[in-house]
Amino acid sequence: MDGPTAVAEEQSLFDRIGGRDAVNAAVDIFYDKVLADPAVSYFFEGANTALLRNKQKAFLTFAFGGPARYDGKSLRDAHGHLVERGLDDTHFDIVAGHLLATVQELGVPEAQIDEIMAIASSTRNDVLGR
Ligand code: HEM
Repeated sequence: MDGPTAVAEEQSLFDRIGGRDAVNAAVDIFYDKVLADPAVSYFFEGANTALLRNKQKAFLTFAFGGPARYDGKSLRDAHGHLVERGLDDTHFDIVAGHLLATVQELGVPEAQIDEIMAIASSTRNDVLGR
């Protein structure tokens, strides 16, 4: 996926939402919600979720314009076998909904929530392999 381009004069979204600690807290809450939801949790059976959390943190940090580098698989490659198992827009919407609920619970301001959800939405076609 192509991340958003950092604008030099502006503080990155990553810094504006509180930096590494805020992103880590968001990922933990987000993953707990996803793994507790039987509509999507079965996709994660057999996945190493502790490792995934760390990958997701690195990925979101990168996507939010922060300092970490994401050097994992492309989102298309990472989710290809899930698409074969039936991953579709319905599941993507559910997971995106858990992300939205997470940042709302954390009190992230509306404008920044809009940016975060736009970044998440921009990955849809890669995640769904089309
Ligand atoms: C905003 C959309 C999403 C993003 C940014 C995202 C990001 C990621 C990343 C960075 C990885 C790790 C890739 C690697 O191994 O290097 C991953 C793996 C994974 N994702 Fe997602 N994901 C998204 C949506 C979803 C959805 C909708 C599901 C299922 C309901 C899902 C299920 C999984 C699973 C099960 C893995 C582990 C695959 C494996 O280890 O075999 N993801 N995702």
